[in-house]
Amino acid sequence: MQEMKTRYPPDKSPLIRILRLVSMLLPGEYLKTVFYLNVIDLPRRVMRQALFSFYRYDHVYAVLKEFKNQCVGPFSVLEFGTSDGYSFVKLLYATRFLKLTDRVTVHTFDSFEGMPAAVDEKDKEWTSGDDWVPGQFKGRYEELDAYCAARYRNYRIHRGYFENSIDDAFLKTLNRSPPALIWRDCDYYSSARAIFERLIDRIPNGCVIYFDDIDNVHLHSDGSPLP
Ligand SMILES: C[S@@+](CC[C@H](N)C(=O)[O-])C[C@H]1O[C@@H](n2cnc3c(N)ncnc32)[C@H](O)[C@@H]1O
Repeated sequence: MQEMKTRYPPDKSPLIRILRLVSMLLPGEYLKTVFYLNVIDLPRRVMRQALFSFYRYDHVYAVLKEFKNQCVGPFSVLEFGTSDGYSFVKLLYATRFLKLTDRVTVHTFDSFEGMPAAVDEKDKEWTSGDDWVPGQFKGRYEELDAYCAARYRNYRIHRGYFENSIDDAFLKTLNRSPPALIWRDCDYYSSARAIFERLIDRIPNGCVIYFDDIDNVHLHSDGSPLP
């Protein structure tokens, strides 16, 4: 009988072969693990950190450039969690820099009351217990609006809790101007859930979802990595 081919052939990468060779030369699990953690894992981590965590607005320019070239009509950028507007202003500036202010509307959503009280066990920090305090990150709506109004036209600030501010009227605007980038920076599981429960049917294939609190896991809505 013919031998069955393995479905997933062994990894033939030369690096894995070198690693196997080193493993054969090092006696005992302890030494092998010390070698792996310090010689392989640590430099890889440092490189990942340097490449992907250095400046989060890399993602904004990458996505906007991609959509600028591939998308015909208008599109939007949605930010959830504005606070004082640090990221919002960066998002707006990116649309100006890339000459997209006629095609892209940047929306930001926040209560401007700061963090609400946690409503779900999953909102809590379960490792260190260092939880957000209600009112933390309270933004200054009027100041932010005045700052943006003096410089930009292609924006909307939606004041209120996500549960109310992501309303049907807003969702309808996404038919004409679908989201290319969803920038989620609201810290709580319950807040993120409120956002995605409302948005889920309006997220087009190819839209990029950025999670501020999770490094290196920013995905197109179809699961493929960022450009
Ligand atoms: C870390 S801050 C945002 C920081 C901001 N992106 C920046 O660049 O500085 C988180 C924000 O999420 C807002 N937030 C959290 N849950 C919310 C909810 N359910 N509805 C409205 N705003 C919420 C808070 O008011 C707070 O301003």
